[in-house]
Amino acid sequence: MFTGNIVLKKLFILGKDISYTLSPKIYNRLFVEKSIDAQYTVVEAPTEQDAVRSITNCRNDILCLGFNVTKPYKLLAYQHVDQLDEHATRIGAINTVARLSYGELKGYNTDWLGVIEPLEKLDSPAKYDVLLLIGAGGAARAALYALQSRVRKAYIVSRTGVTAQQLARKAGIWGIDAKGMKASSEVYVEVLPRTDLLINATPASTDTFSPIPRKILDKYLHQTTTVFDMVYKPLDTLLLQIAKSKGCKVVDGLWMLVHQAKHNIKIWFGLEVCAKLLRRYALS
Ligand SMILES: NC(=O)c1ccc[n+]([C@@H]2O[C@H](COP(=O)([O-])OP(=O)(O)OC[C@H]3O[C@@H](n4cnc5c(N)ncnc54)[C@H](OP(=O)(O)O)[C@@H]3O)[C@@H](O)[C@H]2O)c1
Repeated sequence: MFTGNIVLKKLFILGKDISYTLSPKIYNRLFVEKSIDAQYTVVEAPTEQDAVRSITNCRNDILCLGFNVTKPYKLLAYQHVDQLDEHATRIGAINTVARLSYGELKGYNTDWLGVIEPLEKLDSPAKYDVLLLIGAGGAARAALYALQSRVRKAYIVSRTGVTAQQLARKAGIWGIDAKGMKASSEVYVEVLPRTDLLINATPASTDTFSPIPRKILDKYLHQTTTVFDMVYKPLDTLLLQIAKSKGCKVVDGLWMLVHQAKHNIKIWFGLEVCAKLLRRYALS
């Protein structure tokens, strides 16, 4: 990380209540291994004003290479950058920013690559008849974008149902036949038996709690369903434990994190690294 008198380049992750993040561990280990003079830190922004201040600080700091942005500031950051890559424009949210010359900031979305790449490694072809997507926030949005032309029918559920309906309309623009609903046991009982891709894009997944009640998973989750949980703390969520016990193929949230990190490293340093290596760093 630090070699002699060389001034460190700065990168950071911007969010709120993100002490759990594994990103500093992954990037800082990479910097040591590859002798890159950079440091990746966590910037907690309790308010939107704090977040905007951090974005401005990066813009004005010649040593800042860029940053990652996570909940709840992906949309805010989208509105504060000067340029966007084509995927970020279509998705409407960013998770990665690069500082260009003259302090211009360019926003990217690499979350969608973190969804599709692990699925492509697992399922061949990564095409699905019925997707059940739990959650309708930024991560769910990136997942749907990644899966356009790969799912025949998508059911999206959220706590209120309102955000799920909004996301279903957005999915329609991407050519996905999607229905948004309020999450309920009735919906899960009806949709889960027909689901061949189940994605949790909510924080409501722990090693003792699953967004779909355990008794419904026990009865209606089939071995043929691929189960993707975006949560990576804990890594082995109850949802994934049950899925594995049934013989389902599973993707944990760390695969998503390292696949998007791989693309961030390419954006910031022009360096190609493999996701497996970054996963080893995260787990070391
Ligand atoms: N592994 C990775 O690299 C990676 C990358 C991005 C995100 N993530 C993770 O993905 C999760 C979602 O992130 P986000 O940024 O999209 O969050 P977000 O914007 O806060 O959205 C969360 C969504 O989950 C819904 N929700 C919460 N609890 C629910 C429940 N019990 N049942 C049904 N829906 C529920 C919310 O419903 P309402 O809309 O009705 O409130 C909301 O739509 C987080 O845990 C985040 O850490 C992981």
